[in-house]
Amino acid sequence: GEGLPIPHPPEKFIVGNLGEIDQTFAVSSFWRLADIYGPIFSLNLVKRKVVVISNYELINEVCDDSKYEKFVTGVQENIRIFVKNGLFTAYGDEEEWGIAHRTLVPVFGPVHVRTMYPQMVDILSQMVLRWDRFGPDHEINTMDDFTRLAFDVIGLCAFNYRFNAFYADNLIPFAQQLGEVLIETGRRTNRLDIFNKIEYRSKKHMMDNIHAMWKTCDDIVAERKANPRPDVNDILNVMLAAKDPVTGKGFTDENIRYQMATFLTAGHDTSAGTMMFLFYNLLQHPEALQKCYAEVDEVLGDRPLELDDIKNLKYIEASIRETLRFQGPIPVINRHAKQTTLLGGKYKVTPQDAIVCNFKGLHNDPAVWGEDCREFKPERFLNGGWEALPANAWKPFGTGVRACIGRYLAEQEIIITMAMVLQRFIVEMANPEYELKVKSTLTIKPDHFNIKVRRRPGKD
Ligand code: HEM
Repeated sequence: GEGLPIPHPPEKFIVGNLGEIDQTFAVSSFWRLADIYGPIFSLNLVKRKVVVISNYELINEVCDDSKYEKFVTGVQENIRIFVKNGLFTAYGDEEEWGIAHRTLVPVFGPVHVRTMYPQMVDILSQMVLRWDRFGPDHEINTMDDFTRLAFDVIGLCAFNYRFNAFYADNLIPFAQQLGEVLIETGRRTNRLDIFNKIEYRSKKHMMDNIHAMWKTCDDIVAERKANPRPDVNDILNVMLAAKDPVTGKGFTDENIRYQMATFLTAGHDTSAGTMMFLFYNLLQHPEALQKCYAEVDEVLGDRPLELDDIKNLKYIEASIRETLRFQGPIPVINRHAKQTTLLGGKYKVTPQDAIVCNFKGLHNDPAVWGEDCREFKPERFLNGGWEALPANAWKPFGTGVRACIGRYLAEQEIIITMAMVLQRFIVEMANPEYELKVKSTLTIKPDHFNIKVRRRPGKD
């Protein structure tokens, strides 16, 4: 059948619904329109049609990998200019995705990520030392320091390479270049093609940045080939040696470059944004922060953190899960139907339509999360709460075969960060009047969120 019409705002001549979209923060427009048009609405963005869905029932249906799949479109398609067929932006039918997925899922899995523990502690010790040395009056720009942390952790854990971001006053070049490229690709996404063609100077600047980042990756590979490191078991060595059992193929040098660029891109903003939201939420909810302190003191006391402590930091784990529910760094994923079908039994969608799964709607659906869904409550994940969730209720890491490969790495990194920071420091807002404002690049995160830390008495 033809199905029912999908609600949508009125369209304008030539520009369709483009006028509805905030050019620097498209997702905020989806949030606004969902309040007006409800759990399903469509938009004509000229270059593409999107169907935005915002409740559990519809998103659960679209998570079914047999009928729907990831759709590389919009801003993700635009960043292919930089990360090409790397895991994050590969089209479903690109051979490189399968080779990389089969080879790399095990090395990003929980067992292998545990072996990255010493490297993570190495980088975090640098952050803690820096915070200590700058002292209690220093305003810590959380975006800068968690970006430093995330880059250094991926560099060291995945490529045995030190960006040494904590030794640099400003953002390291790779972070600077990547930030600029993400802003520019974001702008190009919803701009009409004729305007993108006119913007040749910003395009040239973008390409210069991209070539510089590719060179950083290529140099790391060249160095490893010139001086092999059979003693390390990092992701770079795995890629260099891989032979995929299905295709019999390994990684090309070009594809290794795109995978490296992908891990640095997908893995820094997301982890940094999550840590920023986590600190923000805990500072807004002192009772929850106190429970985190109590847990760290109970599990660690005054001795250094050990790998086996991580599994005992349950309240911190719940706080991370609640932060990702409340407001994760990736606010939507794009899916599409493999064949024309009726979504929710009544709305016709074709493979050309991008179905935007709005996590704000999913993670605040009272049908799943109850009437207190707008409150920050880590407790909802404790005492069986996590196990009792229905399938596809909590999706901050995406879904199915295209779910986040870096999840275990990120979770372990964030728990270690919390343990090491809370064991040593009293943390407070730099500006007690700070009001949360979120900003958006490829991901979303708090804007201008600064903290101060001082040594806890007796914890030297
Ligand atoms: C995919 C979230 C950390 C690498 C994804 C997706 C989400 C996500 C939602 C699915 C995107 C889509 O469907 O279009 C997060 C969050 C993180 C995080 C919330 C931190 C808290 C990381 C880290 C890395 C990473 C640390 C790398 C070291 C990737 C890759 C993919 C991916 C490679 C694509 C997987 C594929 O399509 O096969 N992530 N991510 N992520 N993430 Fe993460």
